[in-house]
Amino acid sequence: MTASAGLRITDLTVTYPGPRASGFGRRSSITAVDSVSLGVAPHETVALVGESGSGKSTIARAVVGLVAPAAGGIEFDATSLTNQRDRRARRNIAMIFQDPRSALNPRMSAAASISEAWEAHPDAAPDGVRKDARRRREAVVDLLAQVGLDPDVAEKRPTALSGGQCQRVSIARALALRPRLLICDEAVSALDVSVQAQVLQLLVSVREARSLSMLFITHDLGVVRQVADRVAVMRRGELVESADVTTLFSAPQHDYTRELLDAAVDLDVSG
Ligand SMILES: Nc1ncnc2c1ncn2[C@@H]1O[C@H](COP(=O)(O)OP(=O)(O)OP(=O)(O)O)[C@@H](O)[C@H]1O
Ligand SMILES: [Mg+2]
Repeated sequence: MTASAGLRITDLTVTYPGPRASGFGRRSSITAVDSVSLGVAPHETVALVGESGSGKSTIARAVVGLVAPAAGGIEFDATSLTNQRDRRARRNIAMIFQDPRSALNPRMSAAASISEAWEAHPDAAPDGVRKDARRRREAVVDLLAQVGLDPDVAEKRPTALSGGQCQRVSIARALALRPRLLICDEAVSALDVSVQAQVLQLLVSVREARSLSMLFITHDLGVVRQVADRVAVMRRGELVESADVTTLFSAPQHDYTRELLDAAVDLDVSG
């Protein structure tokens, strides 16, 4: 693998329009991500942690093209993702969101949600699924099986499914275009505690089966220890520290990282 393989974020800055000042004059802007550089190598899982509002989701949104960077570059396998013409490179990256219900279209069956992307990206679709309804059904059932769901889920809409089932459908949908990097933004934190571990286990087994890279955004440092190779710590839009998981937990370099770790220990004790 070359050094440029996988995801490479370079000096990424993302701003949002701020509240409009009264009267006329320039609208202020909020710098949500401030010159952040971060990579995810092939087969690597990087956890992105940091307090609420530190810019974690904004980085994820920029990588999948939901917000445009104000500055900086985002590449996958050395192909720029910020170049509008390169939609193909984006297919390599899929995202799982926190709220499984709002991530799925309430009017669409699970099968329709999963197979939708095959129309927009015919060259990434499995053979035959666009012309042959039976083949499409087989491919959907196969994806459902990979996320631990029965074939009869195919016809169901999100309201007929549990939160955990919805998140499994979202994962099947994310896998439909055979991505190489999965971004999980608090992907289990909205689920019932009893379901969180199961969906986490599914994400890990899918990662292993498909040799995926992962950018794993979470508040849960216990989960970080379980799933991540490396940890990047965000604070107020900046990346304060990045280290492999053992080093970060045993010898954090930055005061803020120590605070985060101490806070997590406190929570464990009180809970
Ligand atoms: N659509 C938006 N418009 C304006 N400001 C926004 C918008 N989305 C996020 N922000 C601001 O950008 C900053 C970073 O937000 P972001 O959602 O990336 O943080 P986060 O680290 O994901 O937080 P959390 O852990 O709570 O999910 C915050 O100050 C937030 O208020
Ligand atoms: Mg967030």
